[in-house]
Amino acid sequence: MKKITSEQLRNLYIDFFKSKGHSQIPSASVIPENDPTVLFTTAGMHPLVPYLLGEKHPQGNRLTDFQKCIRTGDIDEVGDNSHCTFFEMLGNWSLGDYFKEKMIPYSYEFLTSEKYLGIDKNKIAVSVFAGDETVPRDEESAKLWHECGIDKKDIYFLPRKNNWWGPAGTTGPCGPDTEMFIKVKEKCGENCSPACDCGAFLEIWNDVFMAYNKLSDGAYADLKQKNVDTGMGLERTLCVLNEKKSVFDTDLFEDALKKLEELTGKKYEESAQITKAFRVILDHVRTSVFMIGDEKGIVPSNVDQGYILRRILRRAIRFARQIDLQENGILEIAKVFIQKYKNVYPELAKNENKIKTEIAKEYQKFTKTLEAGLKEFEKTVSKLDGETIDGLTAFHLFDTFGFPLEITKELAGEKNLKVDEEGYKKAFYEHQQKSRAGSEQKFACGLADHQEATTNLHTATHLLHAALKQVISPDICQKGSNITAERLRFDFNLDRPCTKEELENVENLVNSIINKDVPVVMQEMTVDEAKNKNYVGLFENKYGQKVKTYKIGDFSKEICGGPHANSTGELGQFKIVKEQSCGAGIRRIKAILIK
Ligand code: SER
Repeated sequence: MKKITSEQLRNLYIDFFKSKGHSQIPSASVIPENDPTVLFTTAGMHPLVPYLLGEKHPQGNRLTDFQKCIRTGDIDEVGDNSHCTFFEMLGNWSLGDYFKEKMIPYSYEFLTSEKYLGIDKNKIAVSVFAGDETVPRDEESAKLWHECGIDKKDIYFLPRKNNWWGPAGTTGPCGPDTEMFIKVKEKCGENCSPACDCGAFLEIWNDVFMAYNKLSDGAYADLKQKNVDTGMGLERTLCVLNEKKSVFDTDLFEDALKKLEELTGKKYEESAQITKAFRVILDHVRTSVFMIGDEKGIVPSNVDQGYILRRILRRAIRFARQIDLQENGILEIAKVFIQKYKNVYPELAKNENKIKTEIAKEYQKFTKTLEAGLKEFEKTVSKLDGETIDGLTAFHLFDTFGFPLEITKELAGEKNLKVDEEGYKKAFYEHQQKSRAGSEQKFACGLADHQEATTNLHTATHLLHAALKQVISPDICQKGSNITAERLRFDFNLDRPCTKEELENVENLVNSIINKDVPVVMQEMTVDEAKNKNYVGLFENKYGQKVKTYKIGDFSKEICGGPHANSTGELGQFKIVKEQSCGAGIRRIKAILIK
């Protein structure tokens, strides 16, 4: 197989789809804008949910990109060959344009053409959906693959468990898929298939034929349009094409790994323990760099995304201690990643100082209590009656010594002990109820659905944002937003509580705009135009392409994907129901509309 670098793979993918009439769109933030059910952007399609549901995309109906993704469901598994908490996904979309008839030949051409990946067609296997009571067997995809040149014996029909994708959160677009694999060794037996975990087949690409919308009651509705959503994991594909043992052996990690060897005087493959420590540090530092350096900038905290960042950083710090890597060493590794990625993700270079400061702050905070916490852990173990550390003790290690649960679990595991996780969660929950400091509750920055009530609250959110700027400070900006049909929730930067008077003024100002029944006007324009016209929004990485903007008289101007009410008169009366702290320097307002 052709050897290929990360840069070449990104470029080949984008070039191929551009040559097929797709527009390149920029990677969105790692915090999803449109999904209240998850903390992070977990797939390339995530930022495109509104468009898959039928909103018009300003760049057209054929799109391609590479997207920053974060999956933290299995932090404690990082250290093996394949788990990464951060990854990039290459993707292309048809928004109600072409379907299987074009996508399968496109996939075949990209994989096999000498101009692109040049993979021998006999090394490729594919899977297609076997069908069930709701969606029929995908004979069409199988036929298309065969017509392209894939041998029938390499086409596998697999059930929903394997060949159905989505939704990315708990509701949203989904559908049957066809997946592409490289055959890397002989099958383990007659019944071996891509569904088998013997390692004979390694998946590199997934084409989803998105024709359904999973609703909150679990039912599947037909989508307004039939879409194609594809995703190719950059790390994994690089690893397979270059025949590397793990993602940590690809060029993405090469410089950081060398630096780590240089700083510690240890060799990556010296022992299983060192290999694991290296991998944990490399993965977690890279993810921290992308979280802090993101255009929506996450900082370590005890809530939401900030808490995931804290857990990742602290786990890296604990492993760094094992190989005598200090604060400066971790910062050096962060610097290498910024260097490696800054041409592709310019926000990292822009936020370099912030990345270093936040990592250093967290390092100092955690190392202050780490030693004492480890002693406390040893004390607990020496007094332990049985094999399980109780939940309250695990919570005490978190609350007093800053040990996230997985650190306690890992320390316990090293001594063949268990932790009562349910008890920990209970203690955490009780504490959370008391202090109102959230933990891993879901955080959102977007709309739960497109019902009228939700859409109206979305428009009210824009009015609230503008009113806060007028009443409190022009520096106020959005830090998060979550909208359901019942209420809006808006987080913004302010290092003190709002006064009663400020809240009243904000409420009155919003209601005055509602009472004037001002039209909400959508206009597409380039980012530069939007900037010049003082629209609020994230300007980074937009390649000077067109974006959607929403304007409410001269009162509010935002770059936004929509949807919105037609005019403010539709909203009803605006009422703030709560104002509270939501982490350091962040306030949260909850508000409703009364009809
Ligand atoms: N959404 C699909 C995936 O994540 C294809 O992009 O695999």
